[in-house]
Parts: sequence; structure tokens; C-alpha cells
Amino acid sequence: NEKPTALIMIFGATGDLAKRKLFPSLYRLYKKGRLSERFAVVGIARRPLSNEEFQASVKASVESAIKDNGELEDFISHFYYHSHDVTDSGSYLALKSVAEKLDAHYSLEGNRIFYLAMAPEFFGTIAEHLKADGLTDVDGFKRLVIEKPFGHDLESAKQLNKQIRKAFSENEIYRIDHYLGKDMVQNIEVIRFANAIFEPLWNNRYISNIQVTSSEVLGVEERGRYYEKSGALRDMVQNHMLQMVALLAMEPPIRLTTDEIRSEKVKVLRAMRPLEGDQVKEYFVRGQYGKGQLNGQEVPAYNEEPMVDEQSNTETFVAGKLMIDNFRWAGVPIYIRTGKRMAAKSTKIVIQFKDIPMNLYYQTEQTLNPNLLVIHIQPEEGITLYLNAQKSGQNMEATPVKLNFANKGIDDMNTPEAYERLLYDCMRGDATNFTHWDEVALSWSFVDKISDVWENTKEAGFPNYESGSMGPKEADQMLEKDGFFWWPVT
Ligand code: BG6
Repeated sequence: NEKPTALIMIFGATGDLAKRKLFPSLYRLYKKGRLSERFAVVGIARRPLSNEEFQASVKASVESAIKDNGELEDFISHFYYHSHDVTDSGSYLALKSVAEKLDAHYSLEGNRIFYLAMAPEFFGTIAEHLKADGLTDVDGFKRLVIEKPFGHDLESAKQLNKQIRKAFSENEIYRIDHYLGKDMVQNIEVIRFANAIFEPLWNNRYISNIQVTSSEVLGVEERGRYYEKSGALRDMVQNHMLQMVALLAMEPPIRLTTDEIRSEKVKVLRAMRPLEGDQVKEYFVRGQYGKGQLNGQEVPAYNEEPMVDEQSNTETFVAGKLMIDNFRWAGVPIYIRTGKRMAAKSTKIVIQFKDIPMNLYYQTEQTLNPNLLVIHIQPEEGITLYLNAQKSGQNMEATPVKLNFANKGIDDMNTPEAYERLLYDCMRGDATNFTHWDEVALSWSFVDKISDVWENTKEAGFPNYESGSMGPKEADQMLEKDGFFWWPVT
């Protein structure tokens, strides 16, 4: 059990992410004994606050997230506040002297983590100042943790990367994709590479298609301003969905090291068939939610939400068919789908195996079911394997059986747990579950082709799916054309 030592500087410490995720996660690490007493946090934001006021807000955010909260006073005593202007050198110099004092007081060995939990337009400016004003000039390690969105397209991502690379080298940059912190996303590799029964079948000879669904019940909420410019493609597909696909499709790494794993993921993204012009329509479907009933309540359409244009052309749903043109996957469609205001909150991966060569058995109502391996990412966590077995007493009839493995599956805990894991990894210097620049660049270049087409053609049929449904019918038709259907995930 390593107990890393560091000064954690959180830019955007009065924001939502810090309150909802970072403070509770740090607290949990503290309670589990994963942080030594030698750590301190400086909360950084524009508004003036005293250390005491800041500590009170940290306390409140932990209390609202976690019931069992002993040692909270000790924990918050490690928190300090600095009121900051991100464009002013004077402000950075003052911060530097706070950092030096804390470094000496807690014996932090000059280790610093800069966590950017704020509006992305300032990421580059902050990184440049950190270097110019001497905050990155340390004896220990310096690491930059950066939240998505990492750019808006390939061009802006390159710009941003150039700016942050002036102050940090690639291996000091920890780009967060919180899906990579989820237990069952990390488990994809273990399921594949630690079981003799799956890996030999994990290819185009035995798998007919793969379906990755991440559906949400929530709408856009208060994030209309951001979401109007982003849409589901940039918000979910460019990062979370493509990361899951890379983990599902990558070759076994020669070793479980950061570099080896990342380089296998990069190869998958390189093998993804790029789409041009008309192909976008053939391979991708977009949707926008209309009003509807959810949990017995009438909810508004996307274009009636705050900060959203009535005529909005922004997609809140995406379904797509990806082809990985390499030896292992040639010919196997990987379908992805994600959206807001759908019937259930659920992230699941279904691996559908090919039919057996000849069917000797029958089931009462239909032909034999194919074998399926389902990886439940959230809210339940676990795996299910669907097999066929003899129905008792009837020797010609087969019946589907389920082999189920459930992880602990604590509802709603998934996201904070992911942050807890990722923060700890960053403090220990393990970047495996963060995205490398090459992955970011490749996924943007894939996604840019799609957004180019979508932004330049207004979708006349919006809104085209009802809140509380599983998306527009075109998403179902996309699979039907190939002779498949979406396996139910709810
Ligand atoms: C975020 C997106 O990255 O992921 C949100 O910006 C989305 O729009 C969220 O709701 C989903 O994460 P989770 O962990 O709830 O599946």
C-alpha cells in the first residue's frame, strides 16, 4: 500500500467537479490510509475565500457524498485556499509562495500535482503561466491532470497540446477519461487476457458483432451552453465510447505496462475505418430527444431546455458502426450507441458469438439463441454468459441459461470510485488509465469527419426520439440491414 506524498493544486476548486467528485474521492483515499499525513491541497478559484470558509465547503461536500465520515476534521485541516486570477503573473507568484510554505510544512519533497478542473479555455494559459512563473520548478515530480474536453476537434486539441507541452512532458500529463477508472472497464482486459476460454474466440472467426451501449436517463440539465457546442459525439463518443472499443479490440500487450497497453490501444484506433462524406450517413445515426414520459413524469424536449436553441441541430444521441480493418476484426461490426433521456441508465457491452454450423436442437419459439457474453459496466457490475442447455425432461429442446458473475455493484458509486482510483494512480505515477496524446489525436480525426458532415447538414427530423425510449428508429434499422438487432440492455 503505497502512500504518495504531494501538494495537490486544484484549479476550479469552487466548481461542481471538485465538490461532487474530487473532495469526496480524496477523503475516501485518506480514510483508507492511501494518503499519508504528508499531503496538502490548495483550492484555487477566482472568488475570495478564507482557508476556513474553503475547509467548510470541503467538509460540506464530503458530508453530502459520504455518510460515514469520521476523521473529517483532520482531513480538512490539510486544505488551503488561494484566490486567483488565471491571467495574472502576480497571482501565480503569490501561489508559488503558498506552495513553498506548504511544501516545507508537510515535507512534500517538492512533489506537485496541478489539477485543472475548470473551463477548458484556460487550460493552455494556466500551463504556460505555471512554467513561466516558476511553479513547475520543483525538486520532486510535477504532473498535470486535465479534464475533458481536450479540445473541440483535432486542430484545437493540437493547439492545446502544444501549449501544455511547453510546461509538461507527455509522461507528466494525465488526461482524464473517467470511464477508464471504472472497475468493469478495467476488467475488460482481465476478462480477455486472464481466461483461456475467451481469447481464442476473440476474433472474426467466432464473434459476429459487438454492441457497446451507454444510455442515460438524465437530460442535458444545466449544461446547455457547453452541450450545444459539443453534442453526444464529442461529449461521449470521442472519449468514453472509443476508449471502450479500444480495450475490447486491442491485441494482448506483451506486458502490462503503461506504454505497452497504450501502444496496443493506439493500433486499434489507427485501424478504425475512416469515414468520408456519404459514408457518414451509412455508418452513423444521430438523434435529439423530444419530450416524453420518464419515471411517470413528463420531461421537456432538448430544444426546450435552458440555454438551448429552439432550432438546435445538436445531437443528444449517436449510434454508429465501426469497422476495425485488421487481421483480427476484419468483417466484424462494432456497434456503439449513447444518448441522453433514454429508457435507462446503463452501460453494457454485448459480445455476440457466431451461430453454430448446424442446429440440432430447437427452442419452443425460435431458433437457438447465439452465445452472448455481456459485460455490465454500470449500474450493475459483472459479466453474464448466455449458453444453451437441455431443458429438463425434454431431450430435443434447448433452453437458454445464464452464467452470472456479479461484482459488488453499488449503485451510483461508479463515478466517484472511478475518480478515487484515477487520483490515486496519478499520485503514484501510473498513467495507464489516462489517455495518451496519440489516442486523443486519432479519435479526434475519426470524429471530426462525422461532425463536419453533421454540422453542415441540418437534420430536418429533429427531435427524432421520444424521451424514455431507446433512440430513433434509424439506430435499429442500422443493425437490421446487417441482419442483427440491439440486444436489450435494460
Ligand atoms: C461525461 C459527460 O463525460 O460523462 C456527461 O460529459 C455524461 O454528459 C457523463 O453524463 C456520463 O458518465 P457516467 O459515469 O455517469 O456514465
